[in-house]
Amino acid sequence: MTDTTLIRGRLLSFRRAPLSLADSDSYTYEHDGALLVSDGRIAAAGDYAAVRQAAPEGTPEIDHRPHLILPGFIDCHMHFPQMQVIASYAADLLEWLNTYTFPEECRFVESDHAARIATHFYDELLRHGTTTAVAYCSVHKTSADAFFAEALKRGMCMVGGKVMMDRNAPQGLLDTPQMGYDETRAVIGEWHGKGRNHVAITPRFAITSTPEQMSAAQALASEFPDLFIQTHLSENQEEIRYTCELYPEATDYTDIYARYGLLGPKTLLGHAIHLSEREADALSEAGAVAVHCPTSNLFLGSGLFPLKALMRREKPVRVAVATDIGGGSSYSMLRTMDEAYKIQQLLGERLNPLESFYLMTRGNADALGMQADIGTLEVGSSADLVVLDAAPTPAMRLRMETIRTLPEELFLLQTMGDDRAVVETYVAGAAMKPASDAQ
Ligand code: GUN
Ligand code: ZN
Repeated sequence: MTDTTLIRGRLLSFRRAPLSLADSDSYTYEHDGALLVSDGRIAAAGDYAAVRQAAPEGTPEIDHRPHLILPGFIDCHMHFPQMQVIASYAADLLEWLNTYTFPEECRFVESDHAARIATHFYDELLRHGTTTAVAYCSVHKTSADAFFAEALKRGMCMVGGKVMMDRNAPQGLLDTPQMGYDETRAVIGEWHGKGRNHVAITPRFAITSTPEQMSAAQALASEFPDLFIQTHLSENQEEIRYTCELYPEATDYTDIYARYGLLGPKTLLGHAIHLSEREADALSEAGAVAVHCPTSNLFLGSGLFPLKALMRREKPVRVAVATDIGGGSSYSMLRTMDEAYKIQQLLGERLNPLESFYLMTRGNADALGMQADIGTLEVGSSADLVVLDAAPTPAMRLRMETIRTLPEELFLLQTMGDDRAVVETYVAGAAMKPASDAQ
């Protein structure tokens, strides 16, 4: 017997990147819409009356009117072991890593600790409407085991990797080139393709990997060409200076990853703020993705990511957006895009709300090459959904009184919204938002 449900509400799904606020061809919007969800997938989508008629008799119905139903948010860069690092007071990236982040990640050698944090991690994602995330685990295989076991339990589509790091960190956080290779292989064998789990090859960044370990990552990348590769690039000036000192033969930071065969269309580069034109060309030619993490970039004072400028280059750079928990300060993709907007304002650029909502859904799915499964409300996609209320607080309710258009409503959600605006989160058709008083 199939498990079928009808979910009714205002549907919004993007077809492609919006060119302007007036670009209504870039999305589909159904004011009284419905999704027919069958065995976790969208079996029909559109006008409520038509979908209702096509549904088998007796199909139960969940009515979310007047709320918006969108594809679940996607977060393309975050750190599972950094939940208890958020709000650590540091001058900049390297001080923050050495003083707080590395010591905290050492705790993930304990599988009980990793399992406990994994429960909280997925609760927070779902509380904030995020149904897919791309995450770094710690160097310990135990952390990857906890991360993927909990994703499997919840039926979520997740990307993650055991971090490879063999220098410039405390002893408890170091592997070796061989261990990094062997344990990544073990994680791939145990978890890749199990449920909706995807393993990413994850050399943390060039500072914490010796050339020998970069070669081990290269070997993994050529043995497993379908896997994502994630690392960090050009986040902070001091980081860039030290990195180039460690790899003097490379032309620049980006060239280090290119030399080890780590730059391709499955490569996700966290931050990538301070790129030269040569580096941006290299990313563009490789089809690698620059992942913008606005709350983190502001919190750590790392810099202003030229999102719009990179997108409109003659050789455009593929981009995605992310929270970067725990350098980032919010699990919410709404809060994230609010900060992304402000960064573009400071750069004299406009980021309109259609673009923001595109980026955190379809845009991030495209960046991952997963748009057939997530990021839209198209038939055949997994029913990973977020239901949004633009008036969950007195202040938002008051502002909603004067709002007339969909883009205005989206802009309010982005500017003032957070987890309180998330009415429900569905994973493969199952309602999963934890209760607000859940521990
Ligand atoms: N660069 C290397 N590791 C990290 C990390 O954990 N967070 C951030 N923001 N940058 C990094
Ligand atoms: Zn990061």
